[in-house]
Amino acid sequence: MPRDLLADKRALDGMSELSRDTVSRPEPGENSLVPHRSSNISQVERLKKMGVRPFAQLLNVEDLDDCDWLEHAAFDANEAATREKLEYRLQTCGELCSGLFSSAYAITSGPLGELIKTRNFPPIDSADTDRKRVLLAHLVSTKAASRFVTDDAMDYPKDWKTKYQLNPSTGHNEDGQTVCLHSLCVHPSFQGKGLGQILLKSYTQRIKDSGVASRIALICRDRYIAFYERAGFKKIGPSKCQYGGGNWVDMLLDFDEGGDDEWNY
Ligand SMILES: CC(C)(COP(=O)(O)OP(=O)(O)OC[C@H]1O[C@@H](n2cnc3c(N)ncnc32)[C@H](O)[C@@H]1OP(=O)(O)O)[C@@H](O)C(=O)NCCC(=O)NCCS
Repeated sequence: MPRDLLADKRALDGMSELSRDTVSRPEPGENSLVPHRSSNISQVERLKKMGVRPFAQLLNVEDLDDCDWLEHAAFDANEAATREKLEYRLQTCGELCSGLFSSAYAITSGPLGELIKTRNFPPIDSADTDRKRVLLAHLVSTKAASRFVTDDAMDYPKDWKTKYQLNPSTGHNEDGQTVCLHSLCVHPSFQGKGLGQILLKSYTQRIKDSGVASRIALICRDRYIAFYERAGFKKIGPSKCQYGGGNWVDMLLDFDEGGDDEWNY
């Protein structure tokens, strides 16, 4: 794992749960985990009433079961990444992947309590095994040498378990300067409550601060353009990707604002 992201992982691991204070009064220039919108306080209050106190953590391959479950709960079957692809991404570059979690007990009421009964979530720590760590949202990325997301970037080398490659022609390119954001999803029971923006904005800030890449690229359906624009992404135009039937739009968040805007794939 790159050293800068290792430091970041330590910071994220030690991060306390989001509280009203931490999200409502960020210092100027501070990397708040929550987007600076006036509606955030009520969103956070609403989440609190539901027993949701979100905290962000980097993901790794130990989160595979949870990520596989969430990916297939949130995405249409033809768009969801396969378990194998998720395993590759979490194992190869988990430092580029983030989860938004909440703790919960079986007696928790509301949607969180309902959700916790549906499957066996891992305990949050071994001292209190009844307190579960519930994955509510995740964001899974790799890096690529291309400026935008391509079908090759979305694919993965099928022999990755036996043949390690730093810069394979498909999948994660360790030297690439483009973070390709492949999956952003929120569990259906918790969509429309601000969690997607919380995760996306905290992630883009972290990647920018770490200096691990020059830009973040993604492809999305037309209906999500406004969602990504709200987090600072620019609409580029139709994507060449044919994944999941094609018809995607290229979106880009370039950290080098003076960078050229050429569409060099
Ligand atoms: C897209 C997604 C990550 C957004 O997360 P969220 O927590 O629901 O979103 P937030 O509450 O932070 O923000 C709400 C905004 O999301 C967008 N949005 C959410 N669901 C939407 C939908 N079905 N259609 C269009 N826009 C939608 C809207 O811009 C909305 O803003 P509005 O409430 O002012 O209309 C989530 O809906 C999801 O997981 N969807 C299924 C997986 C998916 O398609 N991911 C996107 C891949 S490109």
